[in-house]
Amino acid sequence: MITRTTNPDIPHLRRTGDTTQLIVDGQPFLILGGELQNSSFSSSHFMEDVYPKLAAANLNTVLGSVSWEQTEPEEGRFDFAELDRNILAARNNGLKLVLLWFGSFKNGKSTYVPSWVKINPRRFPRVQTHRKDGTLETIEVLSIFDTAAQKADAKAFATLMKHLREVDEAHSTVIMVQVENEIGILGDSRDRSHAAEVRYKSPIPEELLRILLSDKSNFTGPFRRNFGQLDADAVPADASWYDLPADRQRIDELFMAYHYSLYVEQVASAGKRAYPLPLYTNVWQNYGGEDNDPSVPTVVGGGGTPGDYPSGGGVEEVLDIWQLFTPSLDFIAPDIYLNDYSKTCAKYTHRGQPLFIPEQRRDEYGARRIWHAFGSHNCIGTAPFGIDSLDLDENPFKAHYGLLADAAPHILHAQATPSSSAGFFFDDLPPTGPATSPPFTLTFGPWSLKIERSFVFGHPSPGSGMIIQQTQNTFLLLGWGFQVTFTSTNPAAYFTGILRFEEKQVVDRATGAMRTVRLLNGDETQSGRFAIMPSAKPDYGGFPICVTVPARTGMAVCEPYALVRK
Ligand code: DGJ
Repeated sequence: MITRTTNPDIPHLRRTGDTTQLIVDGQPFLILGGELQNSSFSSSHFMEDVYPKLAAANLNTVLGSVSWEQTEPEEGRFDFAELDRNILAARNNGLKLVLLWFGSFKNGKSTYVPSWVKINPRRFPRVQTHRKDGTLETIEVLSIFDTAAQKADAKAFATLMKHLREVDEAHSTVIMVQVENEIGILGDSRDRSHAAEVRYKSPIPEELLRILLSDKSNFTGPFRRNFGQLDADAVPADASWYDLPADRQRIDELFMAYHYSLYVEQVASAGKRAYPLPLYTNVWQNYGGEDNDPSVPTVVGGGGTPGDYPSGGGVEEVLDIWQLFTPSLDFIAPDIYLNDYSKTCAKYTHRGQPLFIPEQRRDEYGARRIWHAFGSHNCIGTAPFGIDSLDLDENPFKAHYGLLADAAPHILHAQATPSSSAGFFFDDLPPTGPATSPPFTLTFGPWSLKIERSFVFGHPSPGSGMIIQQTQNTFLLLGWGFQVTFTSTNPAAYFTGILRFEEKQVVDRATGAMRTVRLLNGDETQSGRFAIMPSAKPDYGGFPICVTVPARTGMAVCEPYALVRK
């Protein structure tokens, strides 16, 4: 019997205090990723031109989908030829991979299951949902209230993971795997098939009922809002789902979330046993009230009620259930398109889980926001969706990822050093109305830092960046279009100024070693008032004297000083 010990060098998550970091090739790793369009990774020929373009855009990781239909075209016959060519090509381009297992569920549907599953609804029953007239409609979604699909998916996924171990354990090209994609029921709040109905009428499983009736103070706000009132007096021990005294749609969502969690746990645990890479699943974000934008059609994102968005997916309303019932998943990851980015980052560090953003906007609006994820939420990685259909010169992530790659050793060190960094962004100023992303103030030890858009005489530019306190009096400033005003928090201080402000350039990406390229002073600090990290094209506003220089490296070290009354 060959007893396999887990290779300590395979990609894994390491907890350091309150921070979890992804370890790849033995070192902390920041995923500067991009997710491919859905069908791109199905062809190694198609990927031949894509990999070099993404490497040139400073990505270090590509997220590509591996489908059940392509993996197991006939039951029991597995085909990894395209996948192997893609893994080798990624490796040869110096890129890592996160694979997305499109198995039973993808955007709430089952379109990626193999044909031998699709055409056999008796063996693989489907979900039925209510039409508006109350009649039942059979839809293209596998029901989770039967075990055949779950077992077949788990077998296929375990076979994939076993294969990855065989072909890639020595290389760690594949660093994580996403299990399924944006799970949930669309068009209704739950499955209404006969098998689902039988389950719904049955007593709620004791393990779940105990949770529902226990102290929920560490559950998310929406969960407590929906189920916080439940207690043993109101809920008999043999209560069915019909008996729960709560909002019916929310009970349906809980019903689906609990059973989807059990289904995915079976698939994920089978894969984890074969090759224990970090595993996660991703979530189509709903509009939880504060984000609701009725002007945005609910097509591939958004939705305010279960069924408008995939009911049962790991949205904040049921995130605790997903975290408690999928121990083989290392975290639950948000796809952030339409929602408030900062609020969603905070939501998905719930229970101390690491934040990974497998999908987000790929425009400058989205690119600015990753600094907040990395600098203020210890994000282990980001991946704009549809990255391969962007031309290199129109890809805003090239600049952002280039600077993040240079500064990665400093950022990773800061992430493992609590309260030593902050990330932020300033959007374009609206033509009318209040400024979005206003100035804000942070305190780092004996210094208060006011962070705002960088000074110009003309129209202020958008900006984004990060501040890292490297020593008590030394700050690494990263990014563009912002400035920092330092003030001593010492009550005896009567003056604060800038002792030194040096533009830096990384000379070794592996260590983050930097050299000084300019000594910044004078106009670059408005004569000592604040440290300016200018945008690439500061608007002079027609002012006759060009005092605002453009950005160069986007990296600088600043040391404030204070004069204190004795
Ligand atoms: C979210 C899904 O997870 C992606 O696979 C893709 O379908 C995008 N939506 C864009 O529609």
